[in-house]
Amino acid sequence: MHPLLSLCVFWLLPLALMLEENLRLGCVPRKSVPFDGDHAHLFREEGVFNYSIMLLREDLGLLVLGAREALYALDLKDITKKLASVKWEVTEDEKKECKKKGKDSELECKNYIRILHKMTDNRMYVCGTHAFDPVCDYMSYADGNLTLEKKVEDGKGKCPFDPFQRYASIMVDNVLYSATSINFLGSEPVLMGSSPVAIRTEFKSSWLNEPTFVSMAQMPESEKSEDGDDDKIYLFFSETAVECDCYNKLVVSRVARVCKGDLGGQRTLQKKWTSFLKARMDCPVLESQLPFIIQDTYRWCDPQQHWKDCLFYAIFTPQSGTLDLSAVCAYRVSDISRVFAEGKYKTPVPVETSFVKWVMYSGDVPVPRPGACINNEARKMNINRTLDLPDRTLQFIKDRPLMDQAIQPIGQKPLLVRRGATFTSIIVDNVMAADGEKHRVMFIGTAEGTLLKALNHDGEMFIIEEIQLFQPPKPIKILKISNITGQLYAGSDYGAAQVSLATCERSFSCMDCVLARDPYCGWDKVTRKCIVLSSSQRELIQSVKDGNASLCPDSDPVKPKNHSVWQGGNLRLSCPLPSSLAKTSWELENILLKSSARLQLLKDELLIFNASDSDAGLYRCLSVEHSKTKAYKTTVAEYQVRIAQPVSGKGETVLPRSLTDGHYVSSLQAIVVLLVLCLFALLAWNCYKGHLAIPWKCGKKNGEQGQEANEDGGPNTNVSHQDALRTAVVEEKPLVLGTGSSNNNHTTEEATFSAAGENDAPRINLPSLQCVNNESVI
Ligand SMILES: *[C@@H]1O[C@H](CO)[C@@H](O)[C@H](O)[C@H]1NC(C)=O
Ligand SMILES: *[C@@H]1O[C@H](CO)[C@@H](O)[C@H](O)[C@H]1NC(C)=O
Ligand SMILES: *[C@@H]1O[C@H](CO)[C@@H](O)[C@H](O)[C@H]1NC(C)=O
Ligand SMILES: *[C@@H]1O[C@H](CO)[C@@H](O)[C@H](O)[C@H]1NC(C)=O
Ligand SMILES: *[C@@H]1O[C@H](CO)[C@@H](O)[C@H](O)[C@H]1NC(C)=O
Ligand SMILES: *[C@@H]1O[C@H](CO)[C@@H](O)[C@H](O)[C@H]1NC(C)=O
Ligand SMILES: *[C@@H]1O[C@H](CO)[C@@H](O)[C@H](O)[C@H]1NC(C)=O
Repeated sequence: MHPLLSLCVFWLLPLALMLEENLRLGCVPRKSVPFDGDHAHLFREEGVFNYSIMLLREDLGLLVLGAREALYALDLKDITKKLASVKWEVTEDEKKECKKKGKDSELECKNYIRILHKMTDNRMYVCGTHAFDPVCDYMSYADGNLTLEKKVEDGKGKCPFDPFQRYASIMVDNVLYSATSINFLGSEPVLMGSSPVAIRTEFKSSWLNEPTFVSMAQMPESEKSEDGDDDKIYLFFSETAVECDCYNKLVVSRVARVCKGDLGGQRTLQKKWTSFLKARMDCPVLESQLPFIIQDTYRWCDPQQHWKDCLFYAIFTPQSGTLDLSAVCAYRVSDISRVFAEGKYKTPVPVETSFVKWVMYSGDVPVPRPGACINNEARKMNINRTLDLPDRTLQFIKDRPLMDQAIQPIGQKPLLVRRGATFTSIIVDNVMAADGEKHRVMFIGTAEGTLLKALNHDGEMFIIEEIQLFQPPKPIKILKISNITGQLYAGSDYGAAQVSLATCERSFSCMDCVLARDPYCGWDKVTRKCIVLSSSQRELIQSVKDGNASLCPDSDPVKPKNHSVWQGGNLRLSCPLPSSLAKTSWELENILLKSSARLQLLKDELLIFNASDSDAGLYRCLSVEHSKTKAYKTTVAEYQVRIAQPVSGKGETVLPRSLTDGHYVSSLQAIVVLLVLCLFALLAWNCYKGHLAIPWKCGKKNGEQGQEANEDGGPNTNVSHQDALRTAVVEEKPLVLGTGSSNNNHTTEEATFSAAGENDAPRINLPSLQCVNNESVI
């Protein structure tokens, strides 16, 4: 083996193995859409940051956006239209006071808007960190103005002091429920209900142990309840596990809940929740030793169905920083509810010296059941309010708020696991497909400012696309959907963005439209366009379940482009694919081409070196995309290649002078050849080890979708057939001239690459790998 070659194999191998593992751990988005101003509306104001809270006011046609020291009322249809704004800054004195306490005056001593809720009287309730001294106020929108009422209220326990500390809040019937730290140091966590008397959690490590609050949701569980149950407020968070007998700190994910009608106890648990119960939430990923940590949730309910059918979608990230996986798990509200209503409790038992072990409690449980809401059973005992609860019940729950059983996700496994950009937020939309079936489309924000649009159909994960929403790539902090405008709104430190839920216009062919499996879109045979389902009266072609494109009409024949190349010259033919899941195959005069030393079949192009007469003919590039039903082939481009004979004396005059610098070019050529050799060595090795299923070589069964190694959302996957035509036109001239001498051959090879002008070096592409659905992952 050549020393350089072996060196490069060593360098590339780990990379390839990494990529391979990548692919095993979750699907690649079918399309990666780079940032551009056209597909997203962006709102930001110069000098204003941290657009991290949003309130949809569909009743007013507004998106109310909270940032650092400012609030905005934006047009819900187009957020670039600012209708009103109001500043809420801290005074110089307040800033000085904050600085005196040791906080950074330019970063921490500002007013970060953290809480923004609609009240029943149409006003809004707003809180801000206010230079480490949280305050709240009422805000209204009238006559095109946003106005703060300046009825400043204490925000302690409602809003965090520290803008970097996570918190959660929800407003139900004008009562604010908040989970945050109640003190300056951020060391005293509470879950608090604010009105009329504040009810809060006991300050005990068995209740909340160094928690990170994530989100809150309410469930109308009194609705049609047979046992006269109360509505609940759910809180999702992570905390240090008390129940773990391990030496190191272990963080676990939790769901806790309280009853809406809880007024606290009479003597025991005075002004404290009598209904605070919590349980561990599992999202088992990859036999990972350490549990994954919850980061965001979304309560999904079908308005036509009972609350018991509601789901919580939650995203999880690893505990340790070494894995870059993220996962989505979904939970039935009824499963969570059942654990709290019927499950066993955990109880602390002292073992040895001052060490406490938490085990399942198997003794007598007092009546009424500890932690239960006031229900018919309690009312029968003449207990109408939590204030009437007996001490025995209250003392029990004070000591044992933790349930023994953990909450398992639907199917006992994640809906999606993906390596790469960390998930930060999730929202789910319910979409009626053309066949009348409803699909839940997940929109997931990442730490790199991208938005994933994904489906899970019968356990099969499918990522329709990944869109770069923010450039610079800032983490997405909040997502909202308006089903009135059909738009999604995302907030980040840098700004707020708005995109359509349906992005059908990205598909130009029926095949692409149907294989996208996007329940929002269908192909209209009459207008020959991929359009939004709800915008059409006609029947559209769509196949969300299995990507069956057999109803697609034959696409327009592709017009071949003429190319000519000098004998001994080099040629590059491009073939941009509409989908990252597709593979290319090339035919010359209807015969499948195979890679050889002179013929490089790359992901989206074909390179021919040292052309000879036998290379002339009609080249066809096919995109082959596997769906669940079958492999679909589409012709992306055709080229009629002619070999021109060198005319003596003429060749030299046409040769571009800048390209005849032999030394420079030959070293470049050496690099090209080296890379190509690397690719081969790599493929051979992987193939030998059975890591890669290379369709044209290994013959290893590769039944399902293929996909590209490129997972980083590079721009090259966002291409349409039309783009393909455009690039092809550019190349429609003899690119290279060869005279036959080996020195000139170096020249011409370089000329090929630079003349095409898209990429200066050939891309190394691993062959398509199998997209494993998560069944085999977990
Ligand atoms: C606010 O945004 C700025 C600028 O992007 C960032 O440096 C800072 O960390 C953000 N602050 C918070 C509390 O997120
Ligand atoms: C709203 O703002 C405009 C311009 O700032 C002002 O002229 C108008 O009086 C305000 N309306 C109310 C009701 O405050
Ligand atoms: C509880 O409510 C019932 C019916 O509303 C009433 O008869 C009973 O006196 C109440 N009990 C207490 C302790 O308030
Ligand atoms: C969507 O809008 C309809 C009315 O157009 C409403 O009934 C429904 O509750 C909305 N769904 C959600 C999830 O907001
Ligand atoms: C390609 O060349 C053929 C003849 O060689 C000619 O008939 C045809 O019009 C050319 N096509 C284009 C697109 O220039
Ligand atoms: C190019 O091909 C010709 C035969 O077609 C061969 O004689 C020549 O050596 C080749 N040149 C290189 C650099 O491989
Ligand atoms: C695909 O759709 C066609 C037309 O609806 C149907 O005949 C065919 O059976 C479907 N194929 C599969 C594998 O479901």
